Amino acid sequence: MRVLSFEGVTVRYEAEGPAILEGIDLEVAPGERVALLGLNGSGKTTLLKATVGLLSHSGCIHVCGERLERPALAGIRTKVGFLFNLPEDQLLFPEVLDDVAFGLRRKGVPLAEARSRARSALASLGAEALAECEIHHLSHGQKQRVALAGALATEPELLLLDEPSAALDPPGRVRLARLLEGLNATMVIATHDLEFARACCTRALLIQGGRLFTCPRIDPDAFLSGEP
Ligand SMILES: Nc1ncnc2c1ncn2[C@@H]1O[C@H](COP(=O)(O)OP(=O)(O)OP(=O)(O)O)[C@@H](O)[C@H]1O
Ligand SMILES: [Mg+2]
Repeated sequence: MRVLSFEGVTVRYEAEGPAILEGIDLEVAPGERVALLGLNGSGKTTLLKATVGLLSHSGCIHVCGERLERPALAGIRTKVGFLFNLPEDQLLFPEVLDDVAFGLRRKGVPLAEARSRARSALASLGAEALAECEIHHLSHGQKQRVALAGALATEPELLLLDEPSAALDPPGRVRLARLLEGLNATMVIATHDLEFARACCTRALLIQGGRLFTCPRIDPDAFLSGEP
């Protein structure tokens, strides 16, 4: 089974506007961890958002065995862990533990178990000490750890992570790479952090000019050539 597939997918922000992604074909198999590379403005965030139906598309997207269409959206979103580029776009509750436990509570996990699993998710990211903190008191990197814990806590089949290492300190990046490598989930990870991508991804794709290319190496040179 393909966990994620795109067939001829085109995404525009406005009906008459330019295609940000054009005719994208993509297949991601179970357990793959795909690095999504590309220059600023190339369309990485756009691709991740389209994958969970936050942007409309033409063509066909399948996620976790279901076609991405309005009636299937809610079900698909329970199987996907999504990390927004900015943690502020993701964190909803004033207190850390409530936020991390939210996805589990929405899935019907009892409160005590949800809170315990949320603590474990925070601990796996070295953020257990933040559990009782107010989110608006946290630093940017601490918020990113909390948002990551929220995305991981439900143990989703598919993780879509937008620059997960961007705000982390160097030990935090190494820890996150090891953590992701040890999960069974399938992942698409938009990143500019090539060292992080080399440490935890099984292959890499590059978005350039609205199209997707296979990246033979996770290397800055991949960005320079017209057709990798
Ligand atoms: N809400 C929007 N309306 C119109 N155009 C948008 C919107 N959001 C993004 N874009 C455009 O879509 C293109 C791709 O943006 P996107 O955010 O996907 O890039 P990215 O590869 O994630 O970049 P970065 O590395 O800076 O995060 C850019 O040209 C951007 O200007
Ligand atoms: Mg982006």
